[in-house]
Amino acid sequence: MSIPIAILGSGRGSNFDAITRAGLDVQVVAVVSDQADAPILEKARQAGHPTHFVAAQGLSRVDHERKILDVLLKAQPRFLVMAGYMRIVTAALLEPFRSERGYARVVNIHPSLLPSFPGVRAYEQTFRFGAKVAGVTIHLVDLEVDNGPICAQEAFDISDCRTAEEVEQRGLKVEHRLFPQTLKWVLPESFTVSNAECAQGRFHVRPN
Ligand code: GRF
Repeated sequence: MSIPIAILGSGRGSNFDAITRAGLDVQVVAVVSDQADAPILEKARQAGHPTHFVAAQGLSRVDHERKILDVLLKAQPRFLVMAGYMRIVTAALLEPFRSERGYARVVNIHPSLLPSFPGVRAYEQTFRFGAKVAGVTIHLVDLEVDNGPICAQEAFDISDCRTAEEVEQRGLKVEHRLFPQTLKWVLPESFTVSNAECAQGRFHVRPN
């Protein structure tokens, strides 16, 4: 049976395209954005998915998330997929998706090799730092920004890149392959979690 998912995004939606074209066994029950004019919403509309703009202006973080939850409670996704969702999330959004194994069923893509370069414009941060290697991380979401348990990472060489845009172009190719490939085992929760050999409060996620 296909897994009901909701996709959250704030912008361009290239990962949304990659995910929905990958032939994953999922049903997109909602696409939610905090930006009324986000291309991800238009793309989702055209593809026939239910779309929702949930304005954040004038609301506290928690009140905004409660409004998103109203949408999600009706749509009933099992997993939230964050694909360029540019807001910090709180327990209000995560707790309803908490699994018996401890993690929340919320997954995010971040354009760096975490824990390096958390936060916004990570490809630019990587380039401006003078790093020779950049990367992409897919992780489960927890309450600290860009910090949750890592599902997959891939590094790529940027030693010949002359601009941050070049780094991003190279990175997006990796993202569009790695995200669907990782969701294939993350969404059905075909992974083991273990904190035995980890630093305190962290755990390993390994595909079965
Ligand atoms: C991607 O680089 C993703 O890693 C980051 O935000 C960007 C979203 O791009 N979290 P898109 O909206 O999927 O095109």
